[in-house]
Amino acid sequence: MKLLHLVVAFGLLASCGSKTTKIKSERFHPTWEKTHSGVYTTKVNEPADFNLLSVNSHSTKGEAINKIAEAPIPIDQSEIDVFTKNGKTYLRFPLDKEEQIYGLGLNFKTVQQRGRIMRLHMDHYGGRDNGRTHAPVPFFISSKGYGVFINAARYIDVYIGTGVTKDSKNPAVTRDRNTDRGWSSRPYSDNLEIVVPENGVEMVMFTGKSMMDVVRRFNLYCGGGIIPPKWGLGFWQRTPTRYSDKDVKNEIAGFEKNNFPIDVLGLEPGWHSKAYPCTFEWDKGRFPNPGQLMKDGLNDGVRFNLWLNPYIWPDSNLDKKMANYTGSHTVWCGTVPDYTMPEARQTMKDHFKKHQLNIGVSGFKVDEVDGFDHWIWPDFATFPSGKDGEQMRQTYGNQFMRLTDEMYREKNERTYGLIRAANAGSVAYPYVIYNDYYSHRDFITALINSGFNGVLWTPEVRAGKSEEEWVRRMQTVCFSPMAMINAWADGTKPWSFPKVYKACQDVAFLRMQLLPYIYSTFAQYHFEGTPPFRAVNLIEGFNSTLKAENKKLDSTKNPYNEAVKREIKDQYMMGDNMLVAPIFTGEKERRVVLPKGKWFDFYTGKLVGEGEVVTVKAELDKIPVFVKDGGIIPMMKSIRQTKEWTNNMPLEVRVYGKADGEFTLYDDDGKSFDFEKGKYTMKQFVVKNGKGSVKDIHTKGPWSYGAVKWTFMTK
Ligand code: GAL
Repeated sequence: MKLLHLVVAFGLLASCGSKTTKIKSERFHPTWEKTHSGVYTTKVNEPADFNLLSVNSHSTKGEAINKIAEAPIPIDQSEIDVFTKNGKTYLRFPLDKEEQIYGLGLNFKTVQQRGRIMRLHMDHYGGRDNGRTHAPVPFFISSKGYGVFINAARYIDVYIGTGVTKDSKNPAVTRDRNTDRGWSSRPYSDNLEIVVPENGVEMVMFTGKSMMDVVRRFNLYCGGGIIPPKWGLGFWQRTPTRYSDKDVKNEIAGFEKNNFPIDVLGLEPGWHSKAYPCTFEWDKGRFPNPGQLMKDGLNDGVRFNLWLNPYIWPDSNLDKKMANYTGSHTVWCGTVPDYTMPEARQTMKDHFKKHQLNIGVSGFKVDEVDGFDHWIWPDFATFPSGKDGEQMRQTYGNQFMRLTDEMYREKNERTYGLIRAANAGSVAYPYVIYNDYYSHRDFITALINSGFNGVLWTPEVRAGKSEEEWVRRMQTVCFSPMAMINAWADGTKPWSFPKVYKACQDVAFLRMQLLPYIYSTFAQYHFEGTPPFRAVNLIEGFNSTLKAENKKLDSTKNPYNEAVKREIKDQYMMGDNMLVAPIFTGEKERRVVLPKGKWFDFYTGKLVGEGEVVTVKAELDKIPVFVKDGGIIPMMKSIRQTKEWTNNMPLEVRVYGKADGEFTLYDDDGKSFDFEKGKYTMKQFVVKNGKGSVKDIHTKGPWSYGAVKWTFMTK
């Protein structure tokens, strides 16, 4: 009997507290309700009240979503199947032959996810793209122009084009392995299946004329992207664990003496009087007068970011105050606050204000909220709000980001920090993900994937086995959301490798010059939902270059060749105009896939290619960067610290290629939330027929720039 694709049937009676709820147990096709242009939601049965979005405090940016071009749902809704059984909800979406699936968490080795099986589970990345990662965001994006977000704070299983059903409309071909060389251990699958371990679920579907529009809608739905404070985009150095205030002052002096950019110093566990678990109070021996240190730092243009893990030292002042709001288990013998409780958030905020914010601490690095199973509570744990260990694990990073975000907002002061666990909704929090893993290549793939998941990622630099490795890593981190050396373990400095010091200095100062461009790219994140760092796959015309290239492949030799070749995981976009193609240690040259249109060398302005695959030579002192035709890159003079980014800063506006182009340069006070009330300035830089002009768009806020010099890079 064919029960599949049947009508809605109300069956099973499930009890939920004292209420009796009707659960639909048969397969059905959900009805989607339109909430904004291109946004559709549906609730299957009775989803849990606590979900990935209820943890957060930001609201949907409906107006901005409605400005994005409308696009219909590109799939037949009667092909979306849902049913609930034994306390789990099963979802199935159709897949076409050519369809590709992106997103589904911060992966480090893969960008396209079709053919994979994953359990989206908050964890420290363990070297395999199996769903256990720092941002296991349950959001997939299809190349057909839609995406679906599963709003459940649970470990979610996804089978992305792996399951083969008996009633498939596009069945896999059965082949005889004895005689048919085309036999495959993974027969063709035409569906994407998801299991949510709850009696119901809320889903949100986003459509768009392009995958980029789908991503934008998702980001705006979750609150829109952040604009970091200007100082957050300068250079960061994290100091060794047991540094004292004297060491810290020497460090600042070292940056000045060596003429290297510095805006933020990070203090690691040793600032706490006790660590692992933590007291959240200053160590009086190493830091007798932290308030003075913060003041002196600020005079030198340096801010401080404090490491913490949120597990509280037993019997410390904070532990006593938190006593009623902590879970059943400890981590490193520290108690674990339940920050879904407003009382717990308030207690922590009061503490932070007194000991850190009021003396000028600029933000935090929130460590060890992801997992490594031994270093977090088990799923068995219970919490006073009633949430279970799994729900807490999937959302703990977001809980902490929320409380710190609220605290800095109350001060009308922007923060920028680091986090090791983030889930849906993180787009609206000023945090960048990092980890302990250290593959340079995989760090770049993570940077690409961050853009599909509404998170930011830094390929932090810690050490290098050679000068070459050091400079290559320094180059990529300067083209990322946070340019940072994390020297907590071995005290490396930018000048630790003297032979390549000049190249490191050059790329760090280049980042500083590019800050007007980078800052405006973050404004796009905020106002339009566009991820600042993103996959080239999100660019129009990218896949056509690949298809042409793939035609040249001989797939009889290896049936997986084509898929592997298509996977571009080592080049990415910084903003709309710059394509970054990092060089890795040992490479003498590299392949770069150029999307449709002409592309120009950032340094020389020369034409490099047009919608084709090119090979570029590796030069030790440069990271290859390409600018699209008509691309405008506003740059300011070279500064060492963002405190020099003040009024009347001369601008050099570089123009690449011969096509017409435009770029919206954004500015505000760089530190407060006044921009959210309209106090900002946007000017459009336009190039038409080889001539540049500037048009005001919004002029209600500060403007740091003075004279404009146009440089036409392509002769
Ligand atoms: C690790 C973290 C490192 C560093 C270290 C300090 O967990 O990932 O970046 O902060 O702790 O103990």
